[in-house]
Amino acid sequence: MSVDPNSLTRIPKHVALIMDGNGRWAQERGLPRIEGHKEGAQSVRALLRAAKQAGVEYLTVYAFSTENWKRPPQEIDGLMKLLIDSLNQYEEELHANQIRLRVMGQFERLPLPVRIRLQKAIDATAHYEGHTFIVALSYGSRTEIADAAKQIAEKVKSGELDPGKIDEQTVSEHLYLPDVPDPELLIRTSGELRLSNFMLWQLSYAEFYITDTFWPDFREEQFFEALEAFNGRDRRYGGVKGE
Ligand code: IPE
Ligand code: IPE
Ligand code: MG
Repeated sequence: MSVDPNSLTRIPKHVALIMDGNGRWAQERGLPRIEGHKEGAQSVRALLRAAKQAGVEYLTVYAFSTENWKRPPQEIDGLMKLLIDSLNQYEEELHANQIRLRVMGQFERLPLPVRIRLQKAIDATAHYEGHTFIVALSYGSRTEIADAAKQIAEKVKSGELDPGKIDEQTVSEHLYLPDVPDPELLIRTSGELRLSNFMLWQLSYAEFYITDTFWPDFREEQFFEALEAFNGRDRRYGGVKGE
């Protein structure tokens, strides 16, 4: 039976997703990999609505990693074009549901037409409060942390920051989106048991939900199942049960 998100008592404020398995989904059907990416883009669209319906305030999707630049140029090109096409559809959904779009990663490394299209959608939705959709693009967590270290070092050098006062909060404040709370739930599709350089710092205490479902088959129902699983988790943060 499908899960009713309204029946859940605890809804994570921030859900992060590693969207994986598009290629294998296509391969299983004898289709080119890009067809898997196209169908996967429809899953993203479905989740925008589902997350809002469930009351999830922040939804972050890992769409392209710094390591994904190693893929064949043809696949990268296809993904970038698909991103532009998908944004037309997503923007409709974002306005209909009053969701703000943000991007996390090396924005300047993306092709110009992609940046222009993204910026348009970012600006058009900037006034929406309450629900945020974050797309991680050319994102790598180690680069993000290294960049934060660089910025902190600059501040120390200029005398703006006392090295003795550097703590966890200082590092968090120098990441790409310092105002966004850490994800409480991480979902990875296609059964892989790894982080692939995704939000290493922010996911320190997140609950992991791994499903064998390939990303193009991960829709509302599967998302609500993940939320239900989160509901049943006992989060102790290093403490003792019941304390
Ligand atoms: C995830 O699907 C999408 C991106 C990383 C862009 P993959 O393309 O990694 O699909 P698999 O893992 O090869 O099946
Ligand atoms: C992780 O998927 C990156 C994204 C989902 C964008 P990959 O398919 O690139 O990860 P690996 O190579 O299996 O670790
Ligand atoms: Mg993959």
